[in-house]
Amino acid sequence: MRICCIGAGYVGGPTMAMIAAKCPHIRVDVVDLNATRIAAWNSDELPVYEPGLDDLVRSARGRNLFFSTEVKESIKAAEIIFVSVNTPTKTFGVGAHKAADLRFIESVARSIAEAADTPKIIVEKSTIPVRTAEAIQTILASSEKGLNHQVLSNPEFLAEGTAVADLNMPDRILIGGEQTEAGLAAVEKLVSVYANWVPRERILTTNLWSSELSKLVANAFLAQRISSINSISALCEKTGADVDEVARAIGSDSRIGPKFLKSSVGFGGSCFQKDVLNLVYLCGHFGLPEVAEYWNQVIAMNDWQKHRFFERVLRTLFNTVSGKRVAILGFAFKKDTNDTRESAAIYICKDLMEERAKIAIYDPKVEAEQICQDLEIESNHPGIEYSASAAEAAAGAHALLVLTEWDEFRKLDFEAIYKSMVKPAWIFDGRSLLDHAKLRQIGFKVYSIGKPLPPESL
Ligand code: UDX
Ligand code: ADP
Repeated sequence: MRICCIGAGYVGGPTMAMIAAKCPHIRVDVVDLNATRIAAWNSDELPVYEPGLDDLVRSARGRNLFFSTEVKESIKAAEIIFVSVNTPTKTFGVGAHKAADLRFIESVARSIAEAADTPKIIVEKSTIPVRTAEAIQTILASSEKGLNHQVLSNPEFLAEGTAVADLNMPDRILIGGEQTEAGLAAVEKLVSVYANWVPRERILTTNLWSSELSKLVANAFLAQRISSINSISALCEKTGADVDEVARAIGSDSRIGPKFLKSSVGFGGSCFQKDVLNLVYLCGHFGLPEVAEYWNQVIAMNDWQKHRFFERVLRTLFNTVSGKRVAILGFAFKKDTNDTRESAAIYICKDLMEERAKIAIYDPKVEAEQICQDLEIESNHPGIEYSASAAEAAAGAHALLVLTEWDEFRKLDFEAIYKSMVKPAWIFDGRSLLDHAKLRQIGFKVYSIGKPLPPESL
């Protein structure tokens, strides 16, 4: 069997590497229009940082896993075609900032219609709005070749930073297909691929629309938990309760459960905001404004949380950060990834730039070039420094902002950092990551999200 995957990004790359590693009898071709990205997949410096990914790719690359830009040839040769291209939120026109931009999906559907000369099973992996499969089918059907392609929905639930473990032992695999004989046969074919390593009872099959919608709903529920705990973090700060204690207390209720209750400076990532906005758009489109508004609050709360953190920093530093050095520890949207999409750090840095702070940014995995792109600045932009270590960023700073929960930040030499900072030396812990009692002993002033406010807070 031959599988082709169009789109060699954070989803396509790791997912195909796992399929190839687990199914040595299947040839997997990962293709992308972006030749630089493909070259990186073929090198020792993969374009995606994920713990365990290097070994996984090395185990199969050149054996039954191939990365290339040969989109047409790979489509022709494959029986199953995964589509994992990006689907950003639209930035213009109807549905701007809410609806998904499907131009990449559409272009892939057209490429398949053009290149295929046998019937294919086309598998949507990208996060897409409900009923996209229908659009893909329409494009394929309009080709005059009369081939009977099947479109399946197989949403990806892996989380970045733990992608390899998630792919190796998924909670579930979800496959949606048309409820016709041909549709069900296609579903079975895809089931047989995953069944090489995933227990059958974890492979759920549904109709197309349930599968597509489930992806949006899963992410909306997860994002909602974070917005809920973040809303409570603000109340904790006012009342003297500790949000981590509250999370542990409520999470011990087996009906609630302990996961996704960590309050933070706001969720980021390529999926949560996009998927919730998609859900909002969909509800609006189907005449359900109350439902749309309900889910919109998840985003509104997240925006507020990011801004609230920045305002706390500003107020605490005597209402002015102009010309003051502020160290940013962590730029990725979570630890163990080099991905910065929708990272809270972007918003907080932009707010700080508006206030003319001097910003020194350190992240163990994010490149300076990426930071410039995210902040929409040139690499020599005055007032922004890309530090090689946390200590370097902190030297001479008035405040240190922890925005990503990288493990290494726990182990920093805070005694030395304290000495190198301007006094009073502030730490704003946006991930409640550090040992605050110890930091206070050293002499730091500490603010941490959801923790009782120190008496000196403004
Ligand atoms: C998410 C979903 O978890 C995954 O199933 C889906 O396939 C893609 O979207 P991802 O965005 O990679 O995965 O990471 P996730 O671990 O969900 O974290 C998203 C954001 O929420 C991060 O910014 C993270 O720091 C934040 N978060 C997560 C919290 O602030 N608190 C938590 O308790 C959990
Ligand atoms: P995700 O997180 O969903 O994997 P990425 O942006 O990391 O998103 O990856 C999507 C990839 O899809 C990009 O590398 C992009 O170049 C690729 N892509 C987009 N459109 C096409 C297309 N028509 N043909 C081939 N590759 C495409």
